[in-house]
Amino acid sequence: MILKYKFGISITVMVLIVVAGVSLFLVISERTILNKIIKDKEASRIELAKNLVHVCRESIIGNDQLLIINQVKNIRKNNREIVHIIYVDRDGKILAHTEPKMIGDFDNKLAEIKIDEGSYLGATHPEIENVWDIFLPVMIGGERTGTTGIRFSQVGLNRLIENTKQQTYTRIAGISGVSLLLGLFGSVILAGMMSNPIKKLSKGAASIGDGNLDTVIDIRSRDELGKLAGEFNSMAKKLKELDTMKDAFVSNITHDLKSPLGAMKGYVDFLLKGRMGNINDKQKDALIRVSENAERLGNFIGDILDYAKIKSGSIDIVREKTDVSEIIRETVRLIEPLADNKSIILKAKVPDGAEEIFGDKKSLERVLHNLISNSIKFTPEKGRITVSLEDKRKELIISVSDTGVGVPPEDIGSIFDRFHQVQEHVKMVKTRGTGLGLAIVKGIVEAHDGKVWVESKINKGSTFFFSLPKGSLPAELKDKV
Ligand SMILES: Nc1ncnc2c1ncn2[C@@H]1O[C@H](COP(=O)(O)OP(=O)(O)O)[C@@H](O)[C@H]1O
Ligand SMILES: [Mg+2]
Repeated sequence: MILKYKFGISITVMVLIVVAGVSLFLVISERTILNKIIKDKEASRIELAKNLVHVCRESIIGNDQLLIINQVKNIRKNNREIVHIIYVDRDGKILAHTEPKMIGDFDNKLAEIKIDEGSYLGATHPEIENVWDIFLPVMIGGERTGTTGIRFSQVGLNRLIENTKQQTYTRIAGISGVSLLLGLFGSVILAGMMSNPIKKLSKGAASIGDGNLDTVIDIRSRDELGKLAGEFNSMAKKLKELDTMKDAFVSNITHDLKSPLGAMKGYVDFLLKGRMGNINDKQKDALIRVSENAERLGNFIGDILDYAKIKSGSIDIVREKTDVSEIIRETVRLIEPLADNKSIILKAKVPDGAEEIFGDKKSLERVLHNLISNSIKFTPEKGRITVSLEDKRKELIISVSDTGVGVPPEDIGSIFDRFHQVQEHVKMVKTRGTGLGLAIVKGIVEAHDGKVWVESKINKGSTFFFSLPKGSLPAELKDKV
């Protein structure tokens, strides 16, 4: 899973946990408040019931039934939530009631309810919704002389509870929704903030790893990632300095090797020609070997020097009006004997009258020579090689197509890199090349603002292409034509 998603998911999970925690906290605190409201209500109702008992006792002691009847009326009048009030004597005879017509009737059940002295009985009625009864004994001299009952309506209280609950849930849903949204939004931004520099870093590191030592990783934050990017940049800079030093060193050494090698080859050729006295056949064979190897070494040195020039940008491209068809025909003619040695048919397929371009003849010959000799090298005997030219509107496209061993797909991307040789091919050829040929081809073509590419099928053959834009003549050359 990529870092961005990992960050995003963990932050979202964290937000979810926090939101769930806050919601739980709100539910619990709201429930505590509700419980307190209910308890308070109960307490005040019990207080009311106790007062009633007190008056009942007074009315019994004073033998004044009217006192309790009036008190019942009063209490009822002042408390809208009371459904009814009842007071019975020990035989269950109703002595006072909010419904006057009930007075004188009997309610035996109420008389028989068990309640201890000093306590009360609170009861709900499943068969009558939304009511709460409270019963208290009326005690005189340690004896229960009667019982009071008050029935409260629960409608108001229930509504209050329901409303409070509703409000709480709405509030929780609102808070959760908003914080969830904010959290998600934040997590997306945070995930991006965290993962983008890392993505940049890994991209930059990969680019440096690919040899692009000019890469600069652009992370300006002052945190650890910014520091790491800085380290990478200075590492790339140092590598670049080392690389330049190394190139200069190689170039100097090869340059210094060139003249003594030239002298050695000169002397050997001199000997071979018999200018320094007769030599026998054995000596001649040995000298030929020396000459061939000196030639190979010379080519190698030449390639390294050319590549160094291309890399440092100091390759001399002398642009002049150039007939590419002519270069193709000429190079094919020169290289034909090499193809003949392997009974390979080498053909040039160039249209008449292709447009001339401004290019460097010598370099373009070199490009074709490299490509065709590669094809000869990697094509088995009796194969076929075709060099073609296509005159497009804005460019010429030149291709060298062979029926050779082909380039494995995994090598296609790096075949034009210096020193890159296909492993399977190395064992195949008699004399190993330098692996610089295609890099030089690419350098020269790119110095002409063109492109190189290859299409290949294993054991079927390869086609190497390069394009040469027709373009307009560079300003500095205009007056020379
Ligand atoms: N026509 C071709 N067919 C198959 N493989 C090729 C062909 N041309 C080049 N290659 C592969 O590309 C590698 C690099 O080529 P090049 O840079 O010219 O180096 P060299 O010829 O010195 O090995 C070769 O070693 C070979 O593996
Ligand atoms: Mg080559």
